[in-house]
Order: sequence, then C-alpha cells, then structure tokens
Amino acid sequence: MAVGLKRKDLLGTRDLSPEEIGLILDTATSMKEIASRDIKKVPTLRGKTIINLFYEPSTRTRTSFEIAGKWMSADVINISTGSSSVVKGETLKDTGLTLQAMHPDVVVIRHAAAGAPQILAGLLKASVINAGDGAHEHPTQALLDLFTIREKRGTLSGLKAAIVGDILHSRVARSNIFAMRKMGMQVRVCGPATMLPRYMDRLGVEVFHRIEPAIADMDIIMMLRIQLERQGGGLFPTLREYSKLFGLNLDRLKAAKQDVLIMHPGPINRGVEISPEVADGPYSLILNQVENGVAVRMAVLYLLAGGQTTTN
Ligand code: CP
Repeated sequence: MAVGLKRKDLLGTRDLSPEEIGLILDTATSMKEIASRDIKKVPTLRGKTIINLFYEPSTRTRTSFEIAGKWMSADVINISTGSSSVVKGETLKDTGLTLQAMHPDVVVIRHAAAGAPQILAGLLKASVINAGDGAHEHPTQALLDLFTIREKRGTLSGLKAAIVGDILHSRVARSNIFAMRKMGMQVRVCGPATMLPRYMDRLGVEVFHRIEPAIADMDIIMMLRIQLERQGGGLFPTLREYSKLFGLNLDRLKAAKQDVLIMHPGPINRGVEISPEVADGPYSLILNQVENGVAVRMAVLYLLAGGQTTTN
C-alpha cells in the first residue's frame, strides 16, 4: 500500500500541518534503521527518477538527498548549474520544462532566489522539494532538526529553543520557527538588531539582543552561520566583535541549562558563531543533524513519490 502526503510538493514548513510534520517524522524513524544495515538498499522507490537541481553550493543537503534516493533504489541525477546550460543563459522556466520532458518524479531545487521552487512547482508535473530558496525557507533542514530534537527528548511540545545569529538571512530560522511553533515549542530569537527582521513578533517568538538572557532556561540552542554571501556589509563592525557579543563558547554556555542541546545546521564558522569546544562538545548534535538528514529526506521522498511501504 502506498501512503503519502496529500500534496504534490514540499515548498516550506509554513503550510505544513502538525499532522503532516508528525507523519514525516514518524516515517523518518522507520527509515533511519536502514542506515545501520550492511546492505543499505530497499526497493521502495525503484523505477522513480529524482533530479537534484542545485543553483547554490551544498554539501549536506545535496549529498543526503542523493544518498536517500539511492538507498531507496531511485535513479538520482545531480545537476550542478555551473556545468549546465544555465551558464549559457537558460531561464529557470526553460530548465524546468526541459527536465520535465525527461519525466522525473521528483525535482529537488536549491536556488538563491526566494520563490524559485514555487515557480518550478507551478510548471512541473513532478513533485518539487525546496532544498533552500534565498532567505525564505529550507523545510527539510527544519524537519531534520525537529527529528533530532524529538529523538533526544522524546517529544517536541513544551520544549524551548533559542535561535541565535543572522536571523534576517536565515531560511533555516524561518522554517524552524514555523515548524517549532506548530509542534507546540516556544521559540526565542537573538542577534544584533540589524539581523533581526521586524516581523519576528508576528511569528509568535520572543526577541532578544543579548545572548545570555536568550539562552537561559532553554532546552535547545540553535546557532546560525553569518551569511556573508547574502549580506551587503555593514550589519556588524567585524567578525571578531560579532563573535565576542554573540558567539557561543564554554564560558557563555554556563548561562544555559546543564543538559542543553546545541544545534547548528552547518556549515559552521568555527570560532565565529560557535567555538570548537562547544561544536565538538558532549551536548553538540551537529553530526546527529547530518545523520538524520538522510532519514528525513528518505521520508519526504517516499511520502511525495508514492513509493511502496516495504523497507525490506
Ligand atoms: N545545512 C545545509 O543546508 O547545509 P548545506 O549548505 O551543506 O547543504
């Protein structure tokens, strides 16, 4: 029997229901066991074709979508736009229609422009998955973050998370805020005033400008990378000063709960937003997040592509 999400595309967490998020996390729990097998291959998506279309660099997201598809026996094609006809000036629309003509079942897209996955979803019969669009959304990152928290704490409802750093440019922060709030979590955001959008209070989060009060009593601290590639400059004086005011180090961690979970979507800037001692320390879940990214992306691919339920 095939089960799935009652939607063609996964474009963001903003329009996901708590039930859909729960279904994805529960499905990912079943998928995770496959990683521990000697032979990591199930027939679930045999005959399905997945295209990874990445207009921006990626290590974690692109690789984990590829592994997820291959472990489920799908045919996975990776397109790096630097070596595609995009460099000859082909538009997103023409690239999308060209790919559609080859009958893929799923197109995973990362793009610097917010809304690019929505445009593609409107053009294609294939399911479209947003793997990060500008500063807008990165839904599978938020889902793997929730999966990692639930795996550690057994629940999401009632937990409190502080998201610290460059909130303004962070698609990870936006997708996490939507998803965490839907699942009954309390959320704080913290960063320099220049990196906190004005609409934050409308999302039901508390806003802090100093890290110590922001992380006190939190169950989770999620640190974010300074996204220099999306900034015009001038949002803070120097990286050194940013680190001094907003970086998470062992000394600053004393303000947090003893068993606080430390998260970061990666890639990390060691010594800027997070010190090596914290990133590699006992409460860091950074590599758990990466590991769980495969299981969550398997779940999303399976639920959208309508694969068979068997994982044998
Ligand atoms: N977290 C994340 O999206 O990492 P990549 O840019 O390496 O995919």
